[in-house]
Amino acid sequence: MSLSFEGRVVLVTGAGGGIGREYALAFAERGASVIVNDLGADTKGGGKSSAAADKVVEEIRAKGGKAVANYDSVEDGEKLIQTALDAFGRIDVVVNNAGILRDRSFARTSDLDWDLIQRVHLRGSFLVTRAAWNHMKNQKFGRIIMTASAAGIYGNFGQANYSAAKLGLLGLANTLAIEGRKYNIHCNTIAPVAGSRLTETVMPPDLVASLKPEYVAPLVLWLCHEQCQENGGLFEVGAGWIGKLRWERTQGYIVRQRNQSMKPESIRDHWEKICDFTDATKPANIQVPLHGVLTLSVFSYFSSQTKAVGQKLPPTTFSFNHTQCILYALGVGMSTKDPDHLRFLYEGHPDFSCLPTFGVISSQAAMMGGGLSSVPGLNIDFTQVLHGEQYLELYKPLPTSGKLTSEATIADVLDKGSGAVILLDVNTYSGNELVCYNQFSVFVVGAGGFGGKRSSEKAKPPLPPPKRSPDAVVIDSTTRDQAALYRLSGDWNPLHIDPSFAAMGGFKAPILHGLCSFGFAARHVLKQFADNDPSRFKAIKVRFVKPVMPGQSLQTEMWKEGNRVHIQCKVKETDAVVLAGAYVDLHGASGASPENLSQGGGLQSELVFAEIGRRIKDVGSELVKKVNAVFGWEITKDGKKAAQWTIDLKSGSGSLHKGPYSGKADVTMTVSDEDFMEVVQGKLNPQKAFFSGKLKVRGNIMLSQKLEVILKDYAKL
Ligand code: NAI
Repeated sequence: MSLSFEGRVVLVTGAGGGIGREYALAFAERGASVIVNDLGADTKGGGKSSAAADKVVEEIRAKGGKAVANYDSVEDGEKLIQTALDAFGRIDVVVNNAGILRDRSFARTSDLDWDLIQRVHLRGSFLVTRAAWNHMKNQKFGRIIMTASAAGIYGNFGQANYSAAKLGLLGLANTLAIEGRKYNIHCNTIAPVAGSRLTETVMPPDLVASLKPEYVAPLVLWLCHEQCQENGGLFEVGAGWIGKLRWERTQGYIVRQRNQSMKPESIRDHWEKICDFTDATKPANIQVPLHGVLTLSVFSYFSSQTKAVGQKLPPTTFSFNHTQCILYALGVGMSTKDPDHLRFLYEGHPDFSCLPTFGVISSQAAMMGGGLSSVPGLNIDFTQVLHGEQYLELYKPLPTSGKLTSEATIADVLDKGSGAVILLDVNTYSGNELVCYNQFSVFVVGAGGFGGKRSSEKAKPPLPPPKRSPDAVVIDSTTRDQAALYRLSGDWNPLHIDPSFAAMGGFKAPILHGLCSFGFAARHVLKQFADNDPSRFKAIKVRFVKPVMPGQSLQTEMWKEGNRVHIQCKVKETDAVVLAGAYVDLHGASGASPENLSQGGGLQSELVFAEIGRRIKDVGSELVKKVNAVFGWEITKDGKKAAQWTIDLKSGSGSLHKGPYSGKADVTMTVSDEDFMEVVQGKLNPQKAFFSGKLKVRGNIMLSQKLEVILKDYAKL
């Protein structure tokens, strides 16, 4: 279908000649009623004549078109629009085209040269457009063209006045595009190149001939048609070619360091980075820079990130009592409606317990406290951070009150192309005892491409569920206030409560915390397969795939494979997968040792000794000082001696070897593989084991107390 302007009223300023005349003819040819405005001035704005406009009007009428002339200057904007209203009763399209030149090198530019140019181009376009604005607004339709110029976009010798006015028009158009959008008023800007009396003064004649105004007009017609949804665009057009322009911005560099003043020297030192257009972004609105400025951590630059690996964050402490445990349980959807939930909701309950996934709460301060931003070599735009994955392992059931200390280490930084992944390992202790281990995988959007490795042996990978249909499915609804409740457990990110903040992040409304869905899924497994017994819970891994909106229902699908329960969580209403590659590891119902420990070989204790060996390598000399003894171990299996180990903490910087000690060990212990595991996991008190005959000790029995120093951190496995 050809584009018709039947019924539309179009004003073209400066239409007595040049490109403007071409517009007027083209609009009229397609049925528009045209107001042909022209002051009839010379190129420098001098003189006045009605002949130019009249001639074009005659041409249009001769072809059967509708047109009236207007001879006012664009500086009398109201009069031009009044002509349209008087003749045709409305105004639909304004093409701001009238223009003059007063080229001078900058030093020679007079006040008049400057003012005249601003008055005709910038002020004239303003006055004409303002006069039309309310009419367009009321009729909920309007199309406006501003005429800029390459001289404004790029600069041009001798055109300081003209360049300033022309780019001023682009600024005007940018804002009109925003203000007009909801009234279906679109405003676009063109930078034409065409042979006309204006260009004759600056271009050779044969070039002028190839740049016909009729190669510019079709773009203006399209932009002014009701079908065209373009708004706020900038186009270069000439000789039959059209291109669109937009802004580009470098990734930039955060020059300001925490708690330090910002110095020009650090700008000088990072100038290349600030100006490096590799991976440039294309900002399209004002929100992005403002957002960056507000959060004070502007752009990301990761080339020095590898320095960050292995860095420890300052330790954080977390003090809590039953209130936090209960608040968390409510946050992840527990309710007194379910009698099973009472043990997590009522501190007076005989089995009052803390939900295992509370282990992320006690450790998250390392993340939330902005600890990451203090790591040298790690520059992150925190507005671009997503929580990608989470792993949590408990070494003993969490206490329901106390003080926990977390130590976080940057385990690795990975380059995923579109972003970077930071693996943050957090060990949480109660006193000296390791209670739990978390691995946070943080995805930093746009921070990839620094040439780093893609994967890490330190990452706890997500695992796909078996291909069969799930063994159990639990559906549970979140409430409208789920996120508002969950955040009270310490994740204060406004993304989960503030609609305008959520909008900046590209979400329709505040979203539920990923770790809240995580808590839902974990307790579904705990109920389904572990009788709600927190001591059966060993570990959980999830990958956060999509957001959940508060009020939606979560559907947890579960597959049991030995002591591992694979899970996948969906939003029931949309069927979208929100937690993927997830699993929960449980301890066996008998209270036996974690079965996966036996994977390494016949004896579960092998792994523990391997870990002890690693510890001795790390801190052996310290242990030798503290312990100063040789320990022999005899591990039995099914009543038979199965392995012997020697822990030498007497000579050198300590050592471990498999087999008996060459001399006489200070103390030798005999224990079954199973009981050994019970002891190291804290399930079997060593004294009890001794008195019940499960643990036999020869030699200096007092020394066995020192074993604690070695075994205590077994849980770091
Ligand atoms: P032109 O000189 O042929 O046409 C401009 C028209 O505007 C003239 O007819 C003139 O009488 C009229 N005019 C001047 N002052 C006026 C006023 N105060 N009120 C009403 N009418 C007035 O020039 P051309 O080349 O057709 O340019 C049209 C527009 O395109 C201008 O805004 C110019 O700056 C712009 N432009 C043209 C380029 C080209 O290659 N021709 C390059 C970049 C921009």
